[in-house]
Amino acid sequence: MRGIPLFLVIASGLAAAAAGCLRGEPIAADFVDTGGSIQVPGCDYALTTRVGAEPPSIGVPHSGRDPRPRSVHLGIMGDPRTSIVAQWRTWDETTLATEIWYAKGEGLSPPQLTGRATGLTFAYRATGTDIIRMHQAHLCNLEPGTTYSYQVGGVDLDGNAAFSPVYSFRTAPDVAAQPDAEVVLGLVGDTRGGYAVWQQLVDQLAFRAPDLIVFTGDAVTIGLTQYEWEEFFDRGEQLLARVPLISAHGNHEVNAVNFYSQVAQPGDQETFGLDYGFAHITVANDTPDDYAKIGGQVRDAIAADFAASDGARWKLFVHHQPMFTSSTTHGSSVTLQEAWLPLVDAHRIDLVVNGHAHLFELTRPLRAKEPQATTDDATVFVVTGGAGAPLYDHLPQPFSAYSEMTYNASVVRVRKDQLVLEAFRQDGTAIPAGLTKTK
Ligand SMILES: [Fe+2]
Repeated sequence: MRGIPLFLVIASGLAAAAAGCLRGEPIAADFVDTGGSIQVPGCDYALTTRVGAEPPSIGVPHSGRDPRPRSVHLGIMGDPRTSIVAQWRTWDETTLATEIWYAKGEGLSPPQLTGRATGLTFAYRATGTDIIRMHQAHLCNLEPGTTYSYQVGGVDLDGNAAFSPVYSFRTAPDVAAQPDAEVVLGLVGDTRGGYAVWQQLVDQLAFRAPDLIVFTGDAVTIGLTQYEWEEFFDRGEQLLARVPLISAHGNHEVNAVNFYSQVAQPGDQETFGLDYGFAHITVANDTPDDYAKIGGQVRDAIAADFAASDGARWKLFVHHQPMFTSSTTHGSSVTLQEAWLPLVDAHRIDLVVNGHAHLFELTRPLRAKEPQATTDDATVFVVTGGAGAPLYDHLPQPFSAYSEMTYNASVVRVRKDQLVLEAFRQDGTAIPAGLTKTK
């Protein structure tokens, strides 16, 4: 599945340029890159952009010289049972038309997409002087466990329209109403520089019909290199336009405005939690802009989210750099063990998900760093950091149950009484190590 963006011109050229609707005009010389915040209409949260990006604004019917959407992908900022964020950029930086057309149902055609919503837009300064125009459409009153079809794009005052293909997505189930619900989480990370492998793993993940992609960080070599982000999102579009993605911040993202502008996430986009099916997922940034935050602000945010979700059926903790790995390149992070491991033990986290080490690894059940006989009251750590970046070798350690130097991804199937992790290589063959835990 190659993610080559297509576009559909629905109508064009109804009239000569109307006032205030000139095509192809340059972006304003006084581009404001201070970031800013706006309450998202119809949702219970605000969209905040970072320094390097404009304050977000409501879309208006204006198109630039090439308003085709590209890199369509989904995110989550609110309750995943009832909300979704569709994100895309336009080939030009001046298009402000930002709409989503949608309807309940799978495989609908454009005329059936009778729901309409205006989105938000902002530009950011990418590599060098490049200005990238982002668009976001937020839907916040959806039905749980329901499939919707949608397309994104916009129409200008002349009637010129440019829209993406029609995609579909499914909202998270309401487990109170559907206690037998199963959700499938796709775990994958460290694509940087290896986008042909990424594309193979995208296909393998899509084949397993995930509900949510959990990316462990390091999508690109340097967070500011926009062309790599385009490799990531364009090649992933056939999956990421149908399945929302959340991502841990990786050290290679370098807290760049490109990351925060293209990956819509809850809260501050760095350290947050969300419920998805019977899983509670806590995500943390282990390379914040100030190193001292690891043992301070970030640790406190993790502790607060763990405490707030103590009653969750299954608890997953996602961050980039592993506390335990037998990788000979990086090794285990003692800093993170000291800062965060006591919290993981105290709150009985079931599964910690990392990247950074470019291999697949599964630990034995651990408690206070010591291997345990069963997964009861213990934590298993999985490293799934092999989605394209150069692979790392390993020397097995006492804490390790299995490690393999291979490109890989995993799925975690979560039901009320069972969590199952299955890992696979880029060709789809199964990695002979997994996890089944029941409660
Ligand atoms: Fe990394």
